[in-house]
Amino acid sequence: MRVGVLTGGGDCPGLNAVIRGVVRKGVQEYGYDFVGFRDGWRGPLEGDTVQLDIPAVRGILPRGGTILGSSRTNPLKQENGIRRIKENLAKEEVDALIAIGGEDTLGVAARLADEYGVRVVGVPKTIDNDLSATDYTFGFDTAVNIATEAIDRLHTTAESHMRVLVVEVMGRHAGWIALHAGLAGGANVILIPEQRFEVDRVCAWVTSRFKASYAPIVVVAEGAMPRDGDMVLKDGSLDSFGHVRLSGVGEWLAKEIERRTGKEARTTVLGHVQRGGTPSAFDRWLATRFGLHAIEAVRDGDFGKMVALRGTDVVRVPIAEATARLKTVDPALYDEVGVFFG
Ligand code: F6P
Repeated sequence: MRVGVLTGGGDCPGLNAVIRGVVRKGVQEYGYDFVGFRDGWRGPLEGDTVQLDIPAVRGILPRGGTILGSSRTNPLKQENGIRRIKENLAKEEVDALIAIGGEDTLGVAARLADEYGVRVVGVPKTIDNDLSATDYTFGFDTAVNIATEAIDRLHTTAESHMRVLVVEVMGRHAGWIALHAGLAGGANVILIPEQRFEVDRVCAWVTSRFKASYAPIVVVAEGAMPRDGDMVLKDGSLDSFGHVRLSGVGEWLAKEIERRTGKEARTTVLGHVQRGGTPSAFDRWLATRFGLHAIEAVRDGDFGKMVALRGTDVVRVPIAEATARLKTVDPALYDEVGVFFG
């Protein structure tokens, strides 16, 4: 049995731990051969491969990123993409493929398996934790720890200058990182994409915090949107008010807070720091388990499936189930945490 492995989409701490788990168990227990495809779906699309064996995975467990490289290439959007992938898999004599990725990568995997008969097993990853069908994705815990540490640090500088500190974290469609890191870091306001926020309410809370002699910390997910105010964001697209996006939500919100409260505000955009570096112990644990279960699914010929964490068990679910809808923050959970607290 020869197994191809690829990592697609935005990178995420724990990808190397999956690759290591897959290869070690595959070689040592089942006697399989492996081939790595470079840069997500670009690898099988262009026949770009890399050697993948025991020496290649030695020492990679604590390393962030992915030794296979990653990209957001979508073969379904390329001319003859499916045919080229099938040809290159045949050329490499690949019997089964393990695709490690988020919504887009797994969406391609689901279609390849369900519509084109490619023997694929999926492994879910994203720091955003927004894939349904699995309780957690690896990478999320590391990102939350990084964001929490940043919030801890921002508290002390905010207090020293009695300023508002706005922290923008990742999460375009789901506020999991904002919610978990905000709670763990003792932020006063947590704003998520699932629920529009009112700038006036944020400002009222900021003012009340200053009255109690605290410097407020506002955590905002990059995809959060105001209910009131003209938000102008950075990527050239239009916001819900039809305005061109010129700056990030964090930067915009800090300016609005200053304008409406007269208090000094600063913004920290954590950005890709949340995706880089060594995975946390939890992410190594989860990613390694996913790897071991993925190669087991290959051995069982259980294709079109994705490994998923349910409680403390790793189970297999149809890949299509994971990509059918995003797992967003439940309003009840958001309410339970309390949008504003201090
Ligand atoms: O999906 C993971 C993620 O890190 C998002 O949280 C973020 O919005 C996006 O990727 C950033 O993508 P890129 O690295 O392509 O800028």
